[in-house]
Amino acid sequence: MTDNGDGDGDLEARLVEQESFEPTEEFVSQANVSDPDIYEEFEENWPHSWRRAADLLDWDREYSEILDDSNEPFYEWFPDGTLNVSYNCVDRHVENGDKNRVAIKWEGEHGDTRTYTYQDLYREVNEFAASLRDLGVEEDDVVTLYMPMVPELPIAMLACARIGAPHSVVFAGFSADALATRMNSADSRYLVTCDGYYRRGDALDHLQKANEGLAGVDHGVDATVVVDRLGDDGFDHDLKGNQYAWEDLMADHQGDRVDPVERSAEDMLFLMYTSGTTGQPKGVKHTTGGYLAYTAWTSHAVLDLEPEDTYWCSADIGWITGHSYIVYGPLALGTTTVMYEGTPDFPERDRLWEIIEKYAVDVFYTAPTAIRAFMKWGSQFPEQHDLSSLRLLGTVGEPINPRAWKWYYQHIGDEECPIVDTWWQTETGGMMVTTLPGVCTMKPGSAGPPLPGIDARVVDTNGDEVESGRAGYLTVDKPWPGMLRTLYNNDERFIEEYWAEYSDPDADEWVYFPEDGAKIDEDGYITILGRVDDVINVSGHRLGTMEIESAIVGVEGVAEAAVVGGEHEVKGEAVYAYVILEDGYDGDDEMRERIVEGVEDAIGPIARPQQVVFTPELPKTRSGKIMRRLLEEIANEEELGDTTTLRNPEIVKEIQAKVER
Ligand code: WTA
Repeated sequence: MTDNGDGDGDLEARLVEQESFEPTEEFVSQANVSDPDIYEEFEENWPHSWRRAADLLDWDREYSEILDDSNEPFYEWFPDGTLNVSYNCVDRHVENGDKNRVAIKWEGEHGDTRTYTYQDLYREVNEFAASLRDLGVEEDDVVTLYMPMVPELPIAMLACARIGAPHSVVFAGFSADALATRMNSADSRYLVTCDGYYRRGDALDHLQKANEGLAGVDHGVDATVVVDRLGDDGFDHDLKGNQYAWEDLMADHQGDRVDPVERSAEDMLFLMYTSGTTGQPKGVKHTTGGYLAYTAWTSHAVLDLEPEDTYWCSADIGWITGHSYIVYGPLALGTTTVMYEGTPDFPERDRLWEIIEKYAVDVFYTAPTAIRAFMKWGSQFPEQHDLSSLRLLGTVGEPINPRAWKWYYQHIGDEECPIVDTWWQTETGGMMVTTLPGVCTMKPGSAGPPLPGIDARVVDTNGDEVESGRAGYLTVDKPWPGMLRTLYNNDERFIEEYWAEYSDPDADEWVYFPEDGAKIDEDGYITILGRVDDVINVSGHRLGTMEIESAIVGVEGVAEAAVVGGEHEVKGEAVYAYVILEDGYDGDDEMRERIVEGVEDAIGPIARPQQVVFTPELPKTRSGKIMRRLLEEIANEEELGDTTTLRNPEIVKEIQAKVER
C-alpha cells in the first residue's frame, strides 16, 4: 500500500490522479443493459419507451395509455392499468417455479439469522394481510409502520399492498412526537410497531416510544400490532385493549389466504414523510403502477439485478432508499435481498464485510457517509474478508468525494466492480441521474448523465441552461413514472414546492425543481452540489433546519434559534445551532443539554446538534432576515463573505469566537 501523504495513506497513488474509469469487459458482457443506443431509443420513443419498465410487471388489466398529461403537473402513468404490488413482489415468483428461492436473508445484530423463501414470504404476507383485515383495515386506510429493521417490516408493507391499504413507514429512530405528527397528518388509525431492537449490544425500548407517540394522536387509534423482537430481553409492557401481539394474530390466521386486491395504477401505494423548507414534514405520495415499474426498472438497469443475485442495500427501510431498493425493486425482480438490523461497527468494524462474505453478496449499495467512516477506520477491516463475490457497488444519499469513491473502488470492489453514484430523492421514487454500469464511463465525484428517458438539466435562475462547468440548479423537464403524485392532502404545497420555480403554466411548460444545486460537464455528466433550500443532509438523512429550530424554540428559556449545516468529515454535514436565550436564563451546560434533549424528543437522535452556540443576537439584515450564509461560514471556519448589509455586523466576530474548534 502506498502512502500518498495526505492523511488516509490508504489509496493507491496511481488512482489518486485518475479521473475516469471504465467497467470491465467481464462486467459489460453480463450486464442487463449494455447497449448505448438505449439513450436514443428512450428519447425517440418517449413516453412509449417507458413500456420497457411497465413490462417488468404483471398487470391484471393492461394499460392502454402510457401517460396522461391532461392535468399538469398531476401526471398519471399507465392510468387505466390495474395490478397488485404484493402479487408482483411475491405471488408471481411462487407461481413461476421460484418458490424456494430466498427472498429475504435477515441478519440480526447478534448474528442470529432468518431466511424467508418466496414461499415463506407468500405465507406470512397472506397471514398478516388477513390479520389486518380482521382488525378492520379497509382499502385506502393508511397503516403506519413504526418499525426497526426486522423482517416483519417488509412483510407488513407487502400485506398492506395486498389489501390496498397505503402504508406510512416512520423511521424507528424518529421520536414519539415525530410519530404522532405523521399519524395525525395522515389520519392513520392503525399502527404496527415492535417491542424493541438491538443497537450496539443494547436492547432499546421501542414500544415505550410508540406508546408515547400514540398518546399524541388526536383522533382515535383503532388497533396497534406489536412485534416481539426482544423475547426474553424485552421490557415490561402490558399490551393495552386495542394492542395485539403480532404472533397471536399470525397464529389465529395461520394458513389464511387473501386475494390480492386489484388496484388502479394510480392508487396510492404509500406515503413517506420527508423534510422540506417549513417545519411541517411533507407527505410524499407514491402510487402503485408507476412507482413499482420505476423501481423495478432502475433495479434492473442500474443495480443490474438478476433473480439469482444476492443483493444488499445497507440503508434503513424507514427511508425511501430502503423502500425502493431493499423492498420493492429487488422483490419485484425476484432477487434475494439482505436485511441487516445493526450498525457497521458492531461487534467489530468489519461487520459489513463479514456479512458480504457470509452471504456472497453480488451487489452492494450504501451511503457515502458510511464509506467515509470505513476509510477512516482503514482497509485492514475489509482485507480480513473475501469480497470476491461482489460484481457491482452503488452509493446514494449525498455527494461522494473522489477520494472516497476511489477508496470504495479499490478496497471494496478490488478495481473490478463498477460503481453507480445514484442521485435521486424521496420525491423521485427511484434513481434519476447515474451511470448505467454496463454502458458508461465513470467519473468519480460526478453522478453521471441522466438515466434514459429522464430529462434533467442544469439551469440558471432564469431557467436557461448553464455552460458546462458552471454551477446552477438541477431541473427535470419531463415527468417520469416513479415521480411523486402530490403531497398528501396538499396539492397547493406540491405545486409551490416543486413546480413554481421554473414552470410556465401559461405556456403549459412544467418543470420539476428538486432544490439541488449542480453543474454539468461537456459530456453531460452532472455533479450534484447539494441542497439549495433549508434542508441539511446528516449522514445521508434529510433534515429540515426549520424543524430543528422549532424544536429548539420549544425549549423553555429559548427566545430564538437558527440552525445550519456545517461540514463534517464523516457525516457530510452536522447540525450547528445558534441560540438566543430569554432574559434570566444562562447558556450553561444544563441549558445545552436541555436543548439537545428537546431536539431528540421532537425529531430523534439523528438531528442532535453537534454544537449549541449561545449568542445575544443573530446576524440579521436590515429587513430582519437571519443571514444563514454567514452562520454556515462560521460553522465551516470559512472566510466570511460580505457583512456590510448587516444591521449588527459586530455580532459576527463574537459568535465566531464562541464556536468550538
Ligand atoms: C441528496 C435519498 C449527491 C440530494 C435517496 C437530494 C445526493 C437528497 C445523491 C434527497 C447523490 C441523494 N449525490 N446528492 N448520489 N443522492 N442526494 O429524499 O441533495 O432522503 O436532494 O432521498 O439527497 O434525499 P432523500
